[in-house]
Amino acid sequence: MRELGIGLIGTGFMGRAHALAFRNVSAAFELPFTLRLAALADADPVRAQACATAWGFEQAYDDWQQLVDDPKVNLIAITTPNHLHYPMAMSAIRAGKAVYCEKPLAVNLEQANAMHLAAKNAGVVTRVGYNYQHNPIIGLARELILNGSLGEIICFQGEFSEDFMADPASPWSWRCEAEHAGGALADLGSHLLAMARHLLGTVEAVCADSQTVHRQRPATAGSLEPRNIAVDDQTHALLRFSSGARGTFSSSWLKHGYKNHLSFEISGTQGTLAFDQERLNELRLCRAGQDGFQRLLAGPNLPGYAAFSPAPGHQLGYNELKTLEVHELIMALAGHGQAGTDFEQAFEVERLATAIRLAARDQRWVSISEL
Ligand SMILES: NC(=O)c1ccc[n+]([C@@H]2O[C@H](COP(=O)([O-])OP(=O)(O)OC[C@H]3O[C@@H](n4cnc5c(N)ncnc54)[C@H](O)[C@@H]3O)[C@@H](O)[C@H]2O)c1
Repeated sequence: MRELGIGLIGTGFMGRAHALAFRNVSAAFELPFTLRLAALADADPVRAQACATAWGFEQAYDDWQQLVDDPKVNLIAITTPNHLHYPMAMSAIRAGKAVYCEKPLAVNLEQANAMHLAAKNAGVVTRVGYNYQHNPIIGLARELILNGSLGEIICFQGEFSEDFMADPASPWSWRCEAEHAGGALADLGSHLLAMARHLLGTVEAVCADSQTVHRQRPATAGSLEPRNIAVDDQTHALLRFSSGARGTFSSSWLKHGYKNHLSFEISGTQGTLAFDQERLNELRLCRAGQDGFQRLLAGPNLPGYAAFSPAPGHQLGYNELKTLEVHELIMALAGHGQAGTDFEQAFEVERLATAIRLAARDQRWVSISEL
C-alpha cells in the first residue's frame, strides 16, 4: 500500500476540522493509501508546534512554503483566510502536489480562473471544502431529484443564515475585507451556491441586492477604535437555472437565532423536499396528494452513513461530513471517483457569486455568460 503524506496549513476552526477528518478517515474507511500526517504549518510558530504535537503531525513549520517544499508532503490542505488560498494553492500546484483548499476558492474571479487552469494543466487532483454536499441525506435529496420523484423541478428556495455578526459590537475580522474574504455572500452564500449547483445544475442568470447594515465595527473585541466595513452583511438574489427552474437565494450573517441555517426547499410538479443543515440528518418530503411532509431520517442504507454507525437515526455531525469529503478526495487520488467540488467547479461557483455581486452593484439581471 502506498503512503500519502498530508500537509496541513492553518490551525483555526477549519484546521482542526481537517485534522480530525484526516485522523478519522482511516478508521471509517478502507483506504488505498496509508496516511502519514507529515507536516503542519501556521504563521504562529508556537501554535504550529503545539497543534502538530497534539494532532499527531510529524513536523511543524511557521513558513507555509517550507511545508509545500517538504518532499514527505503529497497532499496540501489549505485552511487559511481566503486571500491566502491563491498563493498557497498555486505554489502547491507548481510543485505537482494535490490540493484540498477551503472555500471559497479565491477572493476574485481572476484568481479562481488562474487556479483552476493551473490545476488542469498540471493534472493535479483538487478539491474545495464544500463539505455540506457530502451529507448522505443530501445524496438522497439528489437521487429524488434525478430519478423524477418530484416531477419536473420548478423552484429552489435557498437560504444560508447565521448570526455570528448580528451584534454590531462583533469586531472586524479578515472576513470583513473584500480583498481578504468578501462578506456574507463569500463566507456563507458560496456554500449555498455550490449546493444549488450540486442539486439542480447550472444557473444561467441572476438579479440581486446586497446590503452592508453595520458600516463600522470595533477593530478588535471591546475596542473603541472603529473600522469601516464595505462587504455585504446580507445578499438576496433571484436565480434562473439552465433547466428552466426558478429560484431564490439569500445569505446573511446577521439573522438572530440561526447558527448554521443552510436550508432549501425544492419543489417540482410532483412534490417538495426541504432540508436544514441545523437538522442535518433529516429530509422532509411531501409527494403530490399527501396532506403534509413526512420526515426521512438518515441511516446506514444511505452511502457514507454506515462508515460511522450501523444504526439509523443515530446521527452524523459536521465533522463526519468533513471526513466523507476527505474520503472522496483520497479515492479520487487513487483514480476512483469524481465526487466533490474540484477547482473547475469551484471556479463556476465563483463565477456565479461574481454575477450576483455585479447584479447587485448594477441593479440588473446578469447573465452568467457575461463573465
Ligand atoms: N467548509 C466550511 O464549512 C468552512 C467553515 C469555516 C471556515 N471555512 C473556510 O476556512 C478558511 C479558514 O477559516 P477559519 O474559520 O478556519 O479561520 P481561522 O481564522 O479560525 O483560522 C485561520 C488559520 O490560518 C492561519 N494563518 C493565517 N495566515 C497564515 C499564514 N500566512 N501562514 C500559515 N497560516 C496562516 C491562522 O494562524 C489560523 O490558524 C476560510 O477560507 C473559510 O472560508 C470553511
